[in-house]
Amino acid sequence: MTNILCIGAGYVGGSTMPVFASHCPEDRFVIVDINPARIAAWQSDQLPIYEPGLEEIVQQTRGKNLFFSTEVNRHIAEADIIFVSVNTPTKTFGHGAGRAADLQFWEKTARQIVENSTSSKIVVEKSTLPVRTAEAMERILNSNGKGLFFDVLSNPEFLAEGTAIRDMQNPDRVLVGGRETPSGRKAVEKLVELYARWVPRERIITTNLWSSELSKLVANAFLAQRISSINSISAVCEKTEADVSEVANAIGRDARIGSRFLQASVGFGGSCFKKDILNLVYLCEHYGLPEVARYWEQVVLMNEYQEARFASNMVASMFNTVAGKRIALFGAAFKAHTSDTRESPALAVCRALLEERAEIVITDPYALDNACEDLKDLGGRITYEIDPYAAAKNAHAIAILTEWPQYAQLDYERIYQSMTKPAFLFDGRNLLNHKKLYELGFNVYAIGKPALTRLVNQGIVAA
Ligand code: NAD
Ligand code: UGA
Repeated sequence: MTNILCIGAGYVGGSTMPVFASHCPEDRFVIVDINPARIAAWQSDQLPIYEPGLEEIVQQTRGKNLFFSTEVNRHIAEADIIFVSVNTPTKTFGHGAGRAADLQFWEKTARQIVENSTSSKIVVEKSTLPVRTAEAMERILNSNGKGLFFDVLSNPEFLAEGTAIRDMQNPDRVLVGGRETPSGRKAVEKLVELYARWVPRERIITTNLWSSELSKLVANAFLAQRISSINSISAVCEKTEADVSEVANAIGRDARIGSRFLQASVGFGGSCFKKDILNLVYLCEHYGLPEVARYWEQVVLMNEYQEARFASNMVASMFNTVAGKRIALFGAAFKAHTSDTRESPALAVCRALLEERAEIVITDPYALDNACEDLKDLGGRITYEIDPYAAAKNAHAIAILTEWPQYAQLDYERIYQSMTKPAFLFDGRNLLNHKKLYELGFNVYAIGKPALTRLVNQGIVAA
């Protein structure tokens, strides 16, 4: 039996370890966190995160070979392998503020491992980190004065929220970076063996430490770059009556380009794309590569442009004022099938509309608590409503900001009847049937498509 510890019971720790536990029944997995409320939630029926399939797998493994605890020090001492999946947010202070990764939680963890270890261990970087962090980790861990030796591995996580369990069960690839020493190679093999219980060997890539650390940042930068690229084209489409979905389909059919991640939207969100690109930008600056830094920074700037463009198009379309108008935002999560609102474009649009003094009502099937927490600085200026029909009642406009499939199934005739006229619908996810909505009476504005509007020269024309 191997004792495996994961430090950090967030999205990554909380969704990867149960999958490990289900495939490795003879090993023992413990997930620890300094946040007692989070651990209590993991031990309850109300898990702290919503992920399809997660509840079932936690129920199967919890109490058998998967345990949650706040006793970080005790479990460090018992562990053979330690995954570290603590948060590595963007620094908000001092040198590198707004770009560099804040490694304070990371370093605290490293020191805690040294202090509480009584045996040599394998320490696995699961968090996303700047390149060469493993070197700093090795130095902290191996200056322990107790004669212990720690092998540091990089095993970045590529799962996406909303499909975390599926991605973990059936990953495109698993990446393990390690030192090319006998001990390093042995440690890599140990981790590869764990994954090989369910992942075909040919999908497990082993590299040196720095390639592994860098590949994680680069994977996210390339994915986000595709979204910013198609979003930049959506702005061109709106000026030229080209349709961005048709363009995406036409280019995506070229096997060299591929069709995935070409869905134009109000913008990308999530806790990682922006953070990891800014981290890459900072690294490029650090290594004296300003041209490379500016190249990648543009991906983030284009995303901010897209969010701002969406909100200002709303205001411009609604006779240049939304002051006092009720606007229903459909969706707060940064994407469908998650309750996560971190860096959600929905919140950016909400803030921009509040600046214009709109009356905002937000609806979302899973993310209202998180949205409320994120927007708490705005006090009572927003209404939260679980029922989309109630949210839309008397509204001047609806904005679709998360692509929840249930929003495509709503009775838009009923919604239209309950709204203030003229009724506007802004589809920030190109989710709905725009022609049908137009026929119902809506003025429809989508991303990168010609507007379907009954308003000519800002005067209302009979349908
Ligand atoms: P998270 O904020 O949801 O969870 C991190 C947890 O670590 C928190 O619960 C926090 O309390 C805990 N923690 C911090 N310091 C600790 C300490 N010293 N001891 C014990 N617990 C501690 O973060 P997350 O979304 O799980 O992301 C973790 C890392 O994984 C980040 O580096 C992120 O970039 C990366 N990542 C995230 C995703 C994702 O989809 N969320 C995907 C791939 C990689
Ligand atoms: C992303 C990556 O896809 C994961 O591989 C990675 O592990 C993770 O970041 C991470 O490092 O945290 P995630 O942010 O959970 O995963 O979700 P994505 O599916 O990548 O979506 C990110 C954002 O892009 C969402 O707001 C989504 O709506 C948007 N998006 C995605 C688009 O606007 N268009 C698309 O075509 C695809």
